[in-house]
Amino acid sequence: MSTITNGISMLIVSILILTLFIMIVLGFMLGFAHPLPWVLIGIIIIIPFIHNKIVSKRFIKWKESYSVGLDSIDDDHKKLLGMINQLQTASHYSTDDKMIEHILDDLIDYTKYHFLREEEIMLNCGYPEFDAHKKLHQNMISQVTKFIDEYRLHNTRSIDEVTQYLKSWLINHINGSDKEYMPYLNNGM
Ligand SMILES: [Fe+2]
Repeated sequence: MSTITNGISMLIVSILILTLFIMIVLGFMLGFAHPLPWVLIGIIIIIPFIHNKIVSKRFIKWKESYSVGLDSIDDDHKKLLGMINQLQTASHYSTDDKMIEHILDDLIDYTKYHFLREEEIMLNCGYPEFDAHKKLHQNMISQVTKFIDEYRLHNTRSIDEVTQYLKSWLINHINGSDKEYMPYLNNGM
């Protein structure tokens, strides 16, 4: 969600809460036995829970089904998911640009480090699709660098778009291409 959309949604929630609050006060004028203000109080209480539920859906949680069967690679993937979630939080709360840039730099550095580690493992295992897999890694780095430049230098892409791209790329890659080298893992380990 972009900063503007976040701002609008916060404004709508604030107006909604204020309206409900006024209606509760007016509702009590009908008498304490009247159900309306109590129902409205119930609605005000559940709004933060619903809001949290919606927000938490934007974060990715590690699932055992993502495991490639090697702790070091699974730990890297968990760390990358955590960093993407950090970026999601920064984007959601409109954190200042310096903080977002810092998270992006860390994320790119760790992704490169992880790819090198994964490529070394694939080489040691004699994985026959090594070249094609390495190409996917290189394409991802150039694509994400392009996205970040569009966000950082040209302002033509929002941080939320960068986050969405990273999320879907990583999950698809873990569940697709990374799973394909699993049968070879025991060869060179
Ligand atoms: Fe990979």
